[in-house]
Amino acid sequence: MKILLATEKPFAASAVKLIKEQVDNAGYELVLLEKYTDQAQLVDAVKMVDALIVRSDKATKEVIESGKNLKIIVRAGAGFDNVDLAAATEKGIVVMNTPGQNSNAVAELALGMMLMAARNNYSGKSGGELLGKTLGIHAYGNVGKLVAKIGQGFGMKVFAFDPFVAKADIEKDGVTVVDAVEDLYGKSQYLSLHIPANDKTKQSVNYALLNKMPKGAALINTARKEVIHEDEMVKLMHDREDFKYYSDIAPGNADYFKAHFDGRFFFTPKKIGAETSEANVNAGIAAARQIVNFFKSGDKTFQVNKQ
Ligand code: 3PG
Repeated sequence: MKILLATEKPFAASAVKLIKEQVDNAGYELVLLEKYTDQAQLVDAVKMVDALIVRSDKATKEVIESGKNLKIIVRAGAGFDNVDLAAATEKGIVVMNTPGQNSNAVAELALGMMLMAARNNYSGKSGGELLGKTLGIHAYGNVGKLVAKIGQGFGMKVFAFDPFVAKADIEKDGVTVVDAVEDLYGKSQYLSLHIPANDKTKQSVNYALLNKMPKGAALINTARKEVIHEDEMVKLMHDREDFKYYSDIAPGNADYFKAHFDGRFFFTPKKIGAETSEANVNAGIAAARQIVNFFKSGDKTFQVNKQ
């Protein structure tokens, strides 16, 4: 069995070493494609392998169809919007993610961005504190849950909206459930986004929703830039000089932000939420383990494209 680890943004060396050990111990072979610069390299590398591990790498229809022996794709991470699920399902390929494995890294970044917003980008300009402020969690999954916990540690009052999680499961964490998404935005001085990017959520965080946020509010986006309605966000930033936007990865109109909204935004140069050695090790090992278990015993836990 050949397992391709294709990471345009490579894992930490410590993670790659542990993934290789896991694959070697199972009697399989690890093929590495790191820091590739052309999608054609991925299309080519997948030709001879049985399994594929990716991060945000684009597992397109072309990649999937090129993988003649491909039986499983594991997205070492949470969001699988980079994998063409329909194309994989069509070919009978199992797609999995590794939920929870990199969540703490993302949650810590979200809180770090909140602090940065509270302290005016560490510019020296007098800011505010997180203590006593309201924090809204939009989607209470693995990351949202941790953001809530860390926010509570800072003394924030935490609210959450998630129609897919039982109310009691949120309330037991000491978090107040809000039944309508508009009300969550209406209450939140800090709003941390954790929704996935899909056909229903893309561009769903729009002017109407954001404009409900209280004066001096900040939106913290460690989810996906695609869920933001970027044109409407620009209009909001013009209309609301009190509003701040912090995002893990720059939006398409980052240059416009630079020209017009100095001091009220921050964008990471590349997606860094899961960019810690701990998260790389956790997600990488989980991906390798899930592939080995799939081949050895047919285990399909964490499959996301149920056939
Ligand atoms: C995820 O969905 O797991 C995070 O966005 C991290 O993505 P990455 O592995 O590409 O950094």
